Amino acid sequence: TEIEVSADDVEIGAHGHFMAKEIAEQPETVARMLRGRLDTRFDTARLDGLNLSPRELRAFRRVKILGCGSAYYVGELGALMIEELARIPAHAEAASEFRYRNPIIEPDTLYVAVSQSGETADTAFAVREIKRKGGQVVGLVNVVGSTIARECEGGIYLHAGPEIAVASTKALTHMGVGFALLALLLGRVRDLSVADGQRIIAGLERLPADIEAVLADEERIAGLATELSSADSLFFIGRVRGYPVAREGAQKFKEISYRHAEAYQTSELKHGPLALIEESRPTVAVIPDDELTDRNLAAAEQVLARGGRVVAISHPGVDLGPLDDRRVDVPRNEVELDPILLMIPMQLLAYHAAVALGLDIDKPRNLAKSVTVE
Ligand code: G6P
Repeated sequence: TEIEVSADDVEIGAHGHFMAKEIAEQPETVARMLRGRLDTRFDTARLDGLNLSPRELRAFRRVKILGCGSAYYVGELGALMIEELARIPAHAEAASEFRYRNPIIEPDTLYVAVSQSGETADTAFAVREIKRKGGQVVGLVNVVGSTIARECEGGIYLHAGPEIAVASTKALTHMGVGFALLALLLGRVRDLSVADGQRIIAGLERLPADIEAVLADEERIAGLATELSSADSLFFIGRVRGYPVAREGAQKFKEISYRHAEAYQTSELKHGPLALIEESRPTVAVIPDDELTDRNLAAAEQVLARGGRVVAISHPGVDLGPLDDRRVDVPRNEVELDPILLMIPMQLLAYHAAVALGLDIDKPRNLAKSVTVE
């Protein structure tokens, strides 16, 4: 069975769709989520709800993140943030797979369950299995008092407010912020310097205004989305931090536009589906300003050379050459936090493609907001 979306308690406002409303309110909700959680005295995150002492935080040698669907993809971003900022091995896995493979539960691993609803059966089962085997699990959950929130030993509430549209948007952004806070905290009990702590805190504080700046470009993104909506099949490509962004972008696009969209690691394109590139199958390429920009650009140019069309999600100042006329720029933040912002145009691309196709945006066919049984 599936939980029905209940919109009774939430006003849709002037937006026409809950998804549009939830995209638009992110600057405000993210600012709210951060309130009281940035410790500028010790340049770390204040996450009392985790119920973990610095000594306990320091003892973890590994982090394992579990979630389903979009929460799993953001978990992949979280794992990268934790590896980069705390330098502990971190890995995300689909909770729906984890629960069925007799996983090895280790005492010095921090398990993190991530879920908007807190009711996803696969994720809740994974939590129970970890606890039964003596593992320590905390939650990144939006709905207060939900099953997963109650069963975890501690956690970080996402405070995104109610999310009604089936396709998750603001809750995912909040998950990204939650992982950044967790990574900052784990980093600052290890080798992350005061200066880097300050840098991440300043980046987090800039996020609401940066999200606002992406949303200000909505009209342009909508134009590109309308163009993409006529394709039967699309590729979303990215690498390292950009790859989970591409996965989430493809997922969202599929979910509400019913167009086939496949995410691929940009680096793997040449080892696989390059032969499928043609004009009717456009590519959305994540090309941030980072250590891989040139390589990403070269791969996108290969797509162009095969007659493909490319929409580039990038940063201001990156010389995109022949990709310049279909670019979307998000503000440059700190490199570890950039993926949070790179996900915002993906929300708008999916939303406006579905608008162009005249589809039921808030309740796409065959999908439920929360899957509470197997
Ligand atoms: C369902 C929804 C997805 C969502 C996933 C996890 O499959 O259709 O959009 O990402 O559940 O939901 P959760 O509430 O656990 O984040």
